[in-house]
Amino acid sequence: MAVPQEAPLSILVVGGAGYIGAHMVKSLRCAGFCPVVLDDLSSGHADAVGEAELVVGSMADPVTLESLFLRHRFAAVMHFASFIQVGESVSDPAKYYRNNVAATLALLEAMRRAGVGRFIFSSTAAVYGDPVYSPIDEDHPRNPVNPYGRSKWMIEQVLADYDRAYGLRSVCLRYFNAAGADPDGRLGECHEPETHLIPLVLQAAKGRRDAISVFGCDYDTPDGTCIRDYIHVSDLCDAHLRALHRLLEGGGSACFNLGNGQGFSVREVIEAARRVTGRDIPVCYAARRAGDPPRLVADARRAREVLGWQPRRPDLETIVADAWAWECQYPWY
Ligand SMILES: NC(=O)c1ccc[n+]([C@@H]2O[C@H](COP(=O)([O-])OP(=O)(O)OC[C@H]3O[C@@H](n4cnc5c(N)ncnc54)[C@H](O)[C@@H]3O)[C@@H](O)[C@H]2O)c1
Repeated sequence: MAVPQEAPLSILVVGGAGYIGAHMVKSLRCAGFCPVVLDDLSSGHADAVGEAELVVGSMADPVTLESLFLRHRFAAVMHFASFIQVGESVSDPAKYYRNNVAATLALLEAMRRAGVGRFIFSSTAAVYGDPVYSPIDEDHPRNPVNPYGRSKWMIEQVLADYDRAYGLRSVCLRYFNAAGADPDGRLGECHEPETHLIPLVLQAAKGRRDAISVFGCDYDTPDGTCIRDYIHVSDLCDAHLRALHRLLEGGGSACFNLGNGQGFSVREVIEAARRVTGRDIPVCYAARRAGDPPRLVADARRAREVLGWQPRRPDLETIVADAWAWECQYPWY
């Protein structure tokens, strides 16, 4: 997708040193934009932003934000920065509401003062809570069951109000399970602690952990384990680029699910990882975790129809293989 303007448009990428944000920074550069990263490095990695300008600071800090918006004329803001651990959000909700809600309000305030009117928000399937039907479309009731999901749903509601009152146009992208790694092998997933299934399985394959824990094998699913919808991080970035173009072309606020529309069980992921790595992956079975629905699968037709988005790396083995290539070349593993 070519950018029509001669000078590259500047895009502020908040949380651009994190897993998905860093992939986005690379995609923006490849598409001819000039990404500028604001990241406090609470979970991100400075070296992941590559050639892009990195401002180390928090979106909660009005002084940092003011100087950033004075120095750059941003065409849009992409917001990836949040705390992301569901379990921690239950034990320490204040941490989540402070960062995911209050700090996001500070960012929106700085945008308003600077007259920046386009916003792309990383939302989540967690806004839906326990599914009442499957696959889940965007009209499914929003009934988040933990503070992480509630913090995201709160911001979605704030954004609807800001559009009505201030004309701030936003796109909320509700990701299902982001997975995989940059097919060029330069970037990958590196959370500490890691809570996502595919990197955990690959760490077990690598011998960095003793076994992969499977929480519950008595769900009402074909093999008894939970089913999730895994979407390649490159496909997520492609959807963001399409959402950005839509806003730049004058499109209105919207929300979209981002998923493959195909679910894979925990056992299927482990089997795919065995095939890709050729290694034994020890499994230990544990009790169900509270709040884990048996099946979370996206109906992402709206993104296909409105954004023309089509996942290009939907295959589970491709997702796992890209993640494995990254896992294998990561120097400190
Ligand atoms: N990974 C997934 O499967 C998934 C699924 C659904 C939604 N999401 C959402 O996508 C976004 C990105 O997820 P991720 O997996 O890349 O997470 P991540 O932890 O790798 O990245 C988040 C980045 O934001 C930064 N950050 C956090 N608070 C900040 C603050 N106050 N100011 C500046 N920077 C701050 C962190 O340092 C980090 O670099 C999050 O908003 C998450 O809720 C992720």
